[in-house]
Amino acid sequence: MAAFIKFLCIFFFLSLVREGNCQCSLSNVSVNQSKSELVVQQKPVWNATINLDCPCTLTDLVLSSNGFQTVLPLDSTVIVQSGNQLQVTANGGTIAPHSNTSFAYAWDTSFSFNPVSGQPNCS
Ligand SMILES: *[C@@H]1O[C@H](CO)[C@@H](O)[C@H](O)[C@H]1NC(C)=O
Ligand SMILES: *[C@@H]1O[C@H](CO)[C@@H](O)[C@H](O)[C@H]1NC(C)=O
Ligand SMILES: *[C@@H]1O[C@H](CO)[C@@H](O)[C@H](O)[C@H]1NC(C)=O
Ligand SMILES: *[C@@H]1O[C@H](CO)[C@@H](O)[C@H](O)[C@H]1NC(C)=O
Repeated sequence: MAAFIKFLCIFFFLSLVREGNCQCSLSNVSVNQSKSELVVQQKPVWNATINLDCPCTLTDLVLSSNGFQTVLPLDSTVIVQSGNQLQVTANGGTIAPHSNTSFAYAWDTSFSFNPVSGQPNCS
């Protein structure tokens, strides 16, 4: 009986830990950017950093960005564009917990990036 109660305690403890680990969603993704000193075809180069503030990995992250354009080709090993959407391809499409992923683009103005889909994986 004591062993069984102990088992239950461990079980509940583990499920709490698991739950704590799983509070990850797209709201834990933020994109910060700054204008670099580089210029390509008379347009400033922007350095955007995707920050994942959560203890889980996130796969297949897609950002939407209305009217996104760049005269500096995106590094396809980091991110690829499809119309108004950008899919993160870095590290095989899996973003590590608490990490930053940076990419650069060049246009007259910066664009805003909103996470639209992605799969958190907690283990
Ligand atoms: C966002 O970028 C600005 C300018 O580079 C920097 O000062 C700020 O600390 C950054 N914030 C985050 C949360 O990365
Ligand atoms: C963008 O900014 C990040 C963080 O400051 C830096 O690590 C990275 O090298 C920069 N990337 C480019 C392409 O400038
Ligand atoms: C994820 O974002 C939500 C909403 O902003 C916040 O309450 C939660 O603490 C964040 N989770 C982590 C692990 O940072
Ligand atoms: C990601 O960038 C933020 C803001 O610049 C910084 O506070 C944090 O330490 C960085 N995280 C990693 C894992 O580099």
